[in-house]
Amino acid sequence: MSQKTILRALAGETLPTPPIWMMRQAGRYLPEYRATRAQAGDFLSLCYNSELAAEVTLQPIRRFGFDAAILFADILLLPQALGPKLWFETGEGPRMETTTTAAEVAALRPAEAIHDTLHPIYETLRILKRELPSETTLIGFAGAPWTVATYMIAGRGKEEQAGAHRLKTEDRATFETLIDKITEATILYLSAQVEAGAEVIKLFDSWAGSLKGQDFTDFAVKPTARIIAALKERYPSLPIIAFPREAGDGYIGFAAATGADCVAIDNSVSPDWAAANVQTTGCVQGNLAPHHMVTGGEDLIRETRAVVEAFRKGPHIFNLGHGITPDADPANVQLMIDTVRQG
Ligand code: CP3
Repeated sequence: MSQKTILRALAGETLPTPPIWMMRQAGRYLPEYRATRAQAGDFLSLCYNSELAAEVTLQPIRRFGFDAAILFADILLLPQALGPKLWFETGEGPRMETTTTAAEVAALRPAEAIHDTLHPIYETLRILKRELPSETTLIGFAGAPWTVATYMIAGRGKEEQAGAHRLKTEDRATFETLIDKITEATILYLSAQVEAGAEVIKLFDSWAGSLKGQDFTDFAVKPTARIIAALKERYPSLPIIAFPREAGDGYIGFAAATGADCVAIDNSVSPDWAAANVQTTGCVQGNLAPHHMVTGGEDLIRETRAVVEAFRKGPHIFNLGHGITPDADPANVQLMIDTVRQG
């Protein structure tokens, strides 16, 4: 069996100390990230600059010795590679040219054309493959189709999934064609990431929680299952982490329904609930609340121990329930890691 702790946990092994990494571990809370980003220009220039993107991916590994490195990129690069313009408004987040009509969906580039735009991302992975310490696992990722569609339809993020719900109801055929297009392109994108060196794939479905009932099955479960089946056909031993954020009850059985090896859990459910309802069928990842990286102290230590304790009896990868925020203190990240590793 592999010596890398993350791969062991993903294979279903219960380890005495959970391996650890952190969503958005390369980010604005780190002074060295801010310096490299300033050197690159803006956020998108950083994503497409393979040398600098590899550098920021490595920064949290050097500083903290996390067990995994996650490729530095963004889930919105894939839709951008299909044609719509993408930019980031300072202090507000992403903006995209919208795709809402049958004609606009039909005008998207063919899925195979994504590599013309995304080849620098593969180069980032090749650099990381060479430069990462031998014990560190390299994670590639993409957005899940529903979440990517919400941004393509609304042209922005935050609480803006209404547009996607509207299109799903009012023009089902166009909506489904868009989901299929994203699904197909995502399979090609993630396959290229694996070829370039990604050892694990994570699918981010950040807005899965706004899908209920049959919609959850049709648009959170099914496209994810299709992507996982296609990847497993090409790479049978590739471990895949799915993150249907705020799925609630939808977390139960999600791994079995999609073929994921691990389900990442957000903070809307307790670690004890997730241990009893989700970890029963395999590895889970999560789920310390990100605010502890801002607030620190005894609360951080107590809650970190509670997460470790809740998941101790099964395969577990320690992580936050969502990304670390720019106002976090790196000293609190170190305290969390020490607490996980020293008990
Ligand atoms: O986790 C990592 O460190 C890997 C890199 C990564 C980024 N974004 C870098 C990033 C990953 C895996 C993502 C995923 C992503 N991007 C998601 C899914 C996860 C989640 O947060 O729910 C989503 C929804 C996006 C889209 C996106 N990108 C938004 C909404 C924003 C703005 C919010 C913010 O924090 O400013 C981004 C920008 C972004 N992506 C930043 C980083 C480090 C901040 C950009 C900066 O440096 O100014």
